[in-house]
Amino acid sequence: MFLVLFVAAGLLCCANTSPVTKSVAGQRDVTLSARPKRSSRIIDECMTVGLEEGTYYYKSRGGGEVCGVYLLSQPDQLVQVSFDYLNVDCDSDGLVSFVDGWELGGELFPSEVDAPLEGRVHEFCGRLKKKVFRSSGNAAVIQYRVPSRGDGFRITVRYAKNPAPCNMLVDGVKGVYTLRNHGRRSNCSITAIFPASLTLLQIAVGVNGATVPNRAIETGVLSRCEKRGGHDYVQIGGAQGLDSTKMEIEDSVCGLDSNPRIPSSHILCGMTTVRMVSSGLTDNTITLAISQITDFDITPTLMCQLPL
Ligand SMILES: *[C@@H]1O[C@H](CO)[C@@H](O)[C@H](O)[C@H]1NC(C)=O
Repeated sequence: MFLVLFVAAGLLCCANTSPVTKSVAGQRDVTLSARPKRSSRIIDECMTVGLEEGTYYYKSRGGGEVCGVYLLSQPDQLVQVSFDYLNVDCDSDGLVSFVDGWELGGELFPSEVDAPLEGRVHEFCGRLKKKVFRSSGNAAVIQYRVPSRGDGFRITVRYAKNPAPCNMLVDGVKGVYTLRNHGRRSNCSITAIFPASLTLLQIAVGVNGATVPNRAIETGVLSRCEKRGGHDYVQIGGAQGLDSTKMEIEDSVCGLDSNPRIPSSHILCGMTTVRMVSSGLTDNTITLAISQITDFDITPTLMCQLPL
């Protein structure tokens, strides 16, 4: 988590430069039943990461800083946030937003290329009784600036099954993850928020009939598929921030191999990313074991340049 907090410091400094437009929510009455329940927990850190499911309450002590609640569910889940109650004065520059994905240091996950910004950021202030948002992947952020003392909101966080997970943010130390395009023309990625070792366990990318046994011949893992002009490939690499369009690429692989025995990659970057580009012409899947690099004596296969 140290890395996240470090990067997030960048976000908090620069959150006012967020490219999103301000919209003002309609004014509505608040009923007494919308008072906080006793069971709700209080959000009192400006930077909150990784809440459990449950109900949370925030009440401003005054001050105009921008704060964030960073939500992350399991990779095959999505995040649902219901604003049960919100009272944030618009006139004193109060603003609350729900972002589908994570935003850190001005960078977005998933990137705008893989998931258009439109419809991903919802901003509001004023008085609301109830509003429910769902993320498309397993990451979401609530950003808030509530200068008016005593104003606040109450949220209920739920993690629900995602029938077609595509973009996944990973903060566990190690795990096995599968990316699929679900037959669609779409780009999906896994980003681990730490330097990581990647071991390929299975690949079926850019091959027709790969999901029907005996219909396709194993090609082995092919390298540099993007440069060869393949339409479906998987980029492996890393970046210092969340934006995968800025990632340095070690290789782009494709092919059919149910038991690849190629050496692991060791990506020494702030974030490690596996990004699958799919044309929709083939059913693509890739499975990898991802583990955090803790032994820095390991010889990296890719190293990101540190920012100057
Ligand atoms: C997927 O990524 C490729 C290469 O970055 C891009 O050309 C294409 O438009 C993307 N497709 C979708 C559906 O986002």
